[in-house]
Amino acid sequence: MKLDIDQHRLSGELDTLGAISQEPPPVVTRVVFTEADLRGREFVKNLCREAGLVIREDAVGNTSARWEGQDPDLAPVGTGSHIDAIPNAGRFDGTVGVLGGLEAIRALARAGYRPRRSIELLIFTSEEPTRFGIGCVGSRLLSGLLDPDVAAQLKDREGITLDRARSAACFVGPLSSVGLTAGSYSAFVELHIEQGPLLERNNVPVGVVTAIAAPASLRIVIEGEGGHAGTVLMPDRHDAFLAAAEIALAVEASARSSGSIDTVGTVGVCEVFPGAVNSVPSRARIEIDVRDIDLARRDEALKKIEAACAEVMARRGVTAHSELVNADPPAQCSPHVVQALVHACETHGLRFERMISRAYHDSLFMSLIAPVAMIFIPCRGGVSHRPDEYASPQAIARGTLVLAEALADLAGK
Ligand code: GLV
Ligand code: MN
Ligand code: MN
Repeated sequence: MKLDIDQHRLSGELDTLGAISQEPPPVVTRVVFTEADLRGREFVKNLCREAGLVIREDAVGNTSARWEGQDPDLAPVGTGSHIDAIPNAGRFDGTVGVLGGLEAIRALARAGYRPRRSIELLIFTSEEPTRFGIGCVGSRLLSGLLDPDVAAQLKDREGITLDRARSAACFVGPLSSVGLTAGSYSAFVELHIEQGPLLERNNVPVGVVTAIAAPASLRIVIEGEGGHAGTVLMPDRHDAFLAAAEIALAVEASARSSGSIDTVGTVGVCEVFPGAVNSVPSRARIEIDVRDIDLARRDEALKKIEAACAEVMARRGVTAHSELVNADPPAQCSPHVVQALVHACETHGLRFERMISRAYHDSLFMSLIAPVAMIFIPCRGGVSHRPDEYASPQAIARGTLVLAEALADLAGK
């Protein structure tokens, strides 16, 4: 089979999708169920229809585009990723796996290949936690890990529930219908930019992912005592923000002291109330992200943060309410899907490295219902979640080629 990836077309489609944003270019902000997200979905769905794929959308908006196999009763092979984007993001996170997945299917069709198993391109809803505070909402529901009733009541910062937001976006039907049983896909492969520096640094074109790090997040609301910034004397203060700041430093310390470079901790959200320069903060809300490839070490870091929180509360005379938003286990990729990727790299003479994924992906949750693996491609400077995120057309085409070869292999079995 002679596989040709249309690098030029794929790059053009990534550019067009990148321009569908809530902010002017080069900034990509495409938060789930916003007008930009819905326009992005339409763009991708139209390309899928043009390619002759059959579209299906579930109640939360997870979208599948199916290339019917010769034996349609066999479990399909899945590929895909997400098109939602965090505020101030770039063009390639998620979209490479969606549009690259589509181009892999088109390349296979152009080469005259006909799959035995159907191949489905999946576009997952809300991989990013921006709007509803928890990542991978669509794939969590698909895997059955997220209770549909809990999902329905997730709220954004305006108090709009996921249930209301999805109906406004015309995704209807019971959320309980989204879950799939194990075996619904015979394999799932996600193509993604590495979002880290290793492939570029080592000058290796392809990463074959063998495991995905375990993410957790905590939301802590601290209540102190507000007052006039000029008149409340320093010894009398119970400043909620300063307590939050100490907890944030404890997050850094707990990650740094774990003994492994694989433990990471971040406070990416801090809201202060009332937020006036001449007012002592009476309330602060922080959101904490902690990850590790090793579950016990990740949980140890969480424990240290909770302990620091208790100590800061007592010493500063504030109260804190802490909520564990999610604490997911790591995923091990399937040896046979990894082997299909290795074989695809070898077939095309592409050097590869086995590596772990430090970012989470929908594959983390798909691994609960299907054998999964991921293909990483280098991105410039390892930069991601920023407008200057960049992967070259050649790098994307190489990843897409490996994906196409692996899909053919997996769909023939
Ligand atoms: C996904 O976007 C992540 O934060 O790892
Ligand atoms: Mn992302
Ligand atoms: Mn992503």
